[in-house]
Amino acid sequence: MPRVLVTEPIDPAGVAILSQVAQVDQRHNLTAAELQACIGEYDGLLVRSATKVTQGLITAGHNLKIIGRAGVGVDNIDVPAATRQGIVVVNSPEGNTIAAAEQTVALMLALSRYIPQANQLVKAGEWNRKEFLGVEVYKKTLGIVGLGKIGSHVATIARAMGMRLLAYDPFISQERAEQLGCSLMELEVLFREADYITLHIPKTPDTTHLINRESFKKMKPTTRIINCARGGLIDEVALVDAIKAGRIAGAALDVFEQEPPAGSPLLLLGKEVVLTPHLGASTIEAQSNVATDVAEQIRDVLLGLPARSA
Ligand code: NAD
Ligand code: MLT
Repeated sequence: MPRVLVTEPIDPAGVAILSQVAQVDQRHNLTAAELQACIGEYDGLLVRSATKVTQGLITAGHNLKIIGRAGVGVDNIDVPAATRQGIVVVNSPEGNTIAAAEQTVALMLALSRYIPQANQLVKAGEWNRKEFLGVEVYKKTLGIVGLGKIGSHVATIARAMGMRLLAYDPFISQERAEQLGCSLMELEVLFREADYITLHIPKTPDTTHLINRESFKKMKPTTRIINCARGGLIDEVALVDAIKAGRIAGAALDVFEQEPPAGSPLLLLGKEVVLTPHLGASTIEAQSNVATDVAEQIRDVLLGLPARSA
């Protein structure tokens, strides 16, 4: 019977599907060395975002036929190295779209109304209403960078909240943007006009530090940024400096250049910043969707059927 290694917690529905055709070992929290030492025993590997599937690990995985990513981003997997070795890489492009979009909107509102900080103070026995004078999103301008699946759903929700929508996405047609109520424009113009900027793009060499020191100079002092896509899209050192200098009003981040962001100066900032530990896909529904989606593809490949590759 083929063997599949699952290195991070996934919904039991996915494990049940894999178990139809394989022996499934759920070994969470393996060190890189432990993973490297055992990967040769497996025909399939299933990961989320924390496991780094490097070229070295892929080379050691000489029996691997398929690597599954229970989520969207495959930036933690060396896909070219896997392809060279004839290993299929699959993901779940749609399973967590709604979860990530809803987390984005939740972060935008939490940032605007200081909800996490106010909650913390009330629980500490304090009653300070003056400290938390917020802003409304109604009639504000939202700049969406990346109008794909998640960006589009964010647009739909934000439109219903009465926001004006701008978008930057060089791969999306004017017609598609208009259907979503968005005005497509250059990134520089979006930087200048938006009250809120939200990122929904993959992390690639082209998009790393897309938001950098120069970008912040173009924004309004009232601009707030939300990143529920990938750490590294924003230069975090420049972001901290921009917030401290009052160049922008704040940021809500679900993803970080290093996860967890231990020792990051972001952790020392005050109520201008809301941080969550990569929870964009953490809903019961999304976890069931992505685990099922990826497990079915691994099962099919192990049965010799074709798979959709990431
Ligand atoms: P998608 O592929 O549907 O959309 C991405 C969009 O980005 C596309 O429309 C593409 O044209 C656009 N794009 C690519 N390069 C660009 C560039 N240089 N400038 C502007 N636009 C560019 O992807 P999606 O499902 O919407 O996911 C978006 C991101 O969210 C991914 O990075 C994914 O990994 C991340 N994500 C994070 C979480 C989380 O837990 N925080 C959950 C799900 C997805
Ligand atoms: C994704 O790309 O799907 C996200 O990072 C979600 C996750 O795996 O937690």
